[in-house]
Amino acid sequence: MSLIEKIRARDGRVAVIGLGYVGLPLAVELARAGFKSVGIDVVDEKVRRVNAGDSYIKDVPSDVLADCVKSGRLTATSDFSVLNSCDTVNICVPTPLRKTRDPDISYIVSAVEEIKKYIHQDMLVVLESTTYPGTTEEVILPMLARDDFRVGEHFFLAFSPERVDPGNPRFNTKNIPKVVGGITPKCTEVASALYATSLTTVVPVSSAKVAETVKLLENTFRSVNIGLVNEIALMCNKMDIDVWEVIRAAATKPFGFMPFYPGPGLGGHCIPIDPFYLSWKAKLAGFEARFIELAGQINGSMPEYVVARVGEALNRRKKAVNGSRVLVVGVSYKANIDDIRESPALDVMRLLKRHGAEVVYHDRFANPDDPELEHAEASAIDINPKTLATVDCAVIITGHEGVDYQALLEHVPVVVDTRNVYAGVPSEKILRL
Ligand SMILES: NC(=O)c1ccc[n+]([C@@H]2O[C@H](COP(=O)([O-])OP(=O)(O)OC[C@H]3O[C@@H](n4cnc5c(N)ncnc54)[C@H](O)[C@@H]3O)[C@@H](O)[C@H]2O)c1
Repeated sequence: MSLIEKIRARDGRVAVIGLGYVGLPLAVELARAGFKSVGIDVVDEKVRRVNAGDSYIKDVPSDVLADCVKSGRLTATSDFSVLNSCDTVNICVPTPLRKTRDPDISYIVSAVEEIKKYIHQDMLVVLESTTYPGTTEEVILPMLARDDFRVGEHFFLAFSPERVDPGNPRFNTKNIPKVVGGITPKCTEVASALYATSLTTVVPVSSAKVAETVKLLENTFRSVNIGLVNEIALMCNKMDIDVWEVIRAAATKPFGFMPFYPGPGLGGHCIPIDPFYLSWKAKLAGFEARFIELAGQINGSMPEYVVARVGEALNRRKKAVNGSRVLVVGVSYKANIDDIRESPALDVMRLLKRHGAEVVYHDRFANPDDPELEHAEASAIDINPKTLATVDCAVIITGHEGVDYQALLEHVPVVVDTRNVYAGVPSEKILRL
């Protein structure tokens, strides 16, 4: 049986390297499609929890994970030698930026070094980690191909960007269309066949490079539009115009406009980082990606602006930031999820501390033991009349559901609202973004 026939019959054994926000849902979908799915991670605790059917990713319910594990369709391991008996492997490891804002693809390289030890005839390798155009062809291909082991013939290699939006109730790994670009047309065909078994829509493109650029265009589009609307918000503030009302009305235009909303800055593993993968690669080709740099500057300056608003808010009460107790409401990078990576709340907390504030926070989603939060040296508090009575100013960074915003307004002298949670609420106590 050829690899593609095996895939279509869901007869193969599939592997996913990196069991995080992207890899775990994928390993589960492949298991649910009928494959024997194996997840590989270097963190033993994740391996243990997957094998115990105990999910640590909110979008993967533990009962769904446990069903896959109990039925023998999903296992996890830290031993890469299982790849010996796998027909396909998807790489879902992190792709951060270095301090210099250069891409750090060391996790990809280390995963591919392991694959190289066990790759065999008729194996499919797919990279899903977001990366710069050319990574699959220029970095991975030379690591795996040999004169007598050719891509498109002896093994197959493709890139397929992950578009998962953690916490989105409507779109998930299964029903978000999947773009696939192989090194050769046969690679695209084999990789598309794999995704067609478990995902609703597959969108083949002509090359891995195109697929890599698709993802970066999508995230650059968001970063630039958020940068634009943040600049409009700063402008509106100077001119005493309510930017939220402007956006609300503009969004009634049924064509040619898409609303983006201002906020305290970009967060998460994708939007603040991915555009710099593109600008870095463009620079190597002698091209300056000006929109990306400008959006990065504007979005990166938002935490400082928010802290300036806190200063204004306290000033109204004849107080200084120095010595005030400031409550940061919501520390994850977006509403109703626990992920605090790159969250602007961390910058806001750092800046407030630097100005001498005593910082406390409230977030029922975030894990208080997260090293980044521990590093911020702020303690968590509940929201109730007693705790709020000790607070001089609250600043809403993430508009989580289930927060008693009414109590905040009642018991805290002044509130900076960066998310418009008090839309339409007339109150002298509120300073909007
Ligand atoms: N989180 C998102 O919303 C999202 C959305 C789209 C794309 N992406 C991209 O997907 C990729 C993965 O992101 P994520 O959010 O799932 O990251 P994550 O940190 O949640 O998960 C990555 C996993 O890889 C493991 N890992 C690291 N090096 C490894 C190695 N050499 N071998 C095996 N396992 C290894 C880590 O232990 C971790 O469990 C990134 O490139 C990211 O940009 C993420």
